[in-house]
Amino acid sequence: MPDPEEILKKYARPVPRYTSYPTAPHFQQGLGEAILPETVAAATNGERISAYMHIPFCDRLCWFCACHTKQTQRYDPVAAYVGSLVNEIGLYRNRLSQKPALEHLHLGGGSPSLLKHEDFARIAETLEAAFAIDGKTEISIEIDPNDHGEDLLSGMKRLGVTRASIGVQDFDPVVQQVINRPQSFEQTRDLLLAVRSLGIESVNIDALYGLPMQTMERLENTIACVISLSPERVALFGYAHVPWMKKHQTLIREDDLPGPLERFRQAQRAEALLVEAGYVKIGIDHFARPDDSLARAAQAGTLGRNFQGYTTDRCETMIPLGASAIGRSPSGYLQNLVPTGQYRTSVDNDKLAVAKGYRFTADDLLRAHVIERLMCDFEFRFEQLAEQFGGLGQSLAEEARLIARNDEDGLCEAGDEAFRILPQARPFARIVASWFDAHMRESSFQYSRAV
Ligand SMILES: C[S@@+](CC[C@H](N)C(=O)[O-])C[C@H]1O[C@@H](n2cnc3c(N)ncnc32)[C@H](O)[C@@H]1O
Ligand code: SF4
Repeated sequence: MPDPEEILKKYARPVPRYTSYPTAPHFQQGLGEAILPETVAAATNGERISAYMHIPFCDRLCWFCACHTKQTQRYDPVAAYVGSLVNEIGLYRNRLSQKPALEHLHLGGGSPSLLKHEDFARIAETLEAAFAIDGKTEISIEIDPNDHGEDLLSGMKRLGVTRASIGVQDFDPVVQQVINRPQSFEQTRDLLLAVRSLGIESVNIDALYGLPMQTMERLENTIACVISLSPERVALFGYAHVPWMKKHQTLIREDDLPGPLERFRQAQRAEALLVEAGYVKIGIDHFARPDDSLARAAQAGTLGRNFQGYTTDRCETMIPLGASAIGRSPSGYLQNLVPTGQYRTSVDNDKLAVAKGYRFTADDLLRAHVIERLMCDFEFRFEQLAEQFGGLGQSLAEEARLIARNDEDGLCEAGDEAFRILPQARPFARIVASWFDAHMRESSFQYSRAV
């Protein structure tokens, strides 16, 4: 059993969460435009596609937040932004020679839950004109319980939302005060009941460990409250403290933050409580009821990982909609302009707002596969590498054997058939995955803590 204290000390260097490989800091300015025609072509090759829509607004600003968002008390900027989204979808529609079938649409943010009914309706109409939305389309949305109201519920119904993800973070009033996120249990429960009354059977709750003033007891209470709400899924993230990227996080006192070992213990305790309550652990930070599609995918080895985290979505093409949104095609990634004003100016002048991008090399595709399997299954099989990637796959198997031989900490092993992260080392999966990251070696970008 690796000693967590030693491992945390030895590998204090922050590592990516690997929601993509290569990770977003490696995207290059201007390359998105080159990937765009390939994305449009891939979207009309008869395969089902996905789309991600970003809403960069919130009516409150939580001090812990690392998302791309802006606080607004007025609705006008949101309505104007929806106008730009409608233009952007229209620009894609003009480029697409046929209507691709939509497998999955995710509305993230920020808080897409602050949209008014009429804007949900505008978005729905425009999407329906550009994409074929059918009985298999999954539509998911991130909800801040603070936004609970008639507009949200009727808007979700109009859009045909099938999955909802509710932000909780922590229910303790002391923690809530130092992260500026007041939110009662009752408010959250009422929202969840309202979401269920729409016929939505799949609900996720986001909870955090590693927050300021979060003691073990406070976290235990939060997890007990989460369990009492019976969501189908729980995402348990470690608070990423990155004040050099997010200025408002400087409002959080570093003295109030639990240390690395305490964070590790918190993650372990929350996991134990969720597993005891019947949830299956998925990858590094998700939990699901055993009959949930995410748990079934994990069991079948078909779980995937993309910018939204763990997913059952295996589409090769994803259309990015909204400021900062990231998409992909089989040949690479593309990202929209991040500043909301610049994004709006572009699409309102009939130009898609794609800016940064990345074109995969053969080595990237191989390493992306290996890292995705490690993050999802904690192992990858050599036979599959050779089948899918030929000689390159065989040399990566050699590299994996060497990595396992050099591992002094008992994190991984390589046999004849597979490379695997040992069960007790699974909390350190990001660290092991980073050993296969060829770009990490040349990177000066600062990520968040591995655990
Ligand atoms: C866009 S928000 C979810 C929807 C809604 N805005 C809300 O907060 O309820 C996405 C999730 O990212 C997670 N998150 C935000 N900032 C984070 C940070 N600094 N570290 C770890 N997770 C974070 C939170 O769990 C949050 O629920
Ligand atoms: S956590 Fe959610 S509600 Fe809070 S600022 Fe971030 S995106 Fe907005």
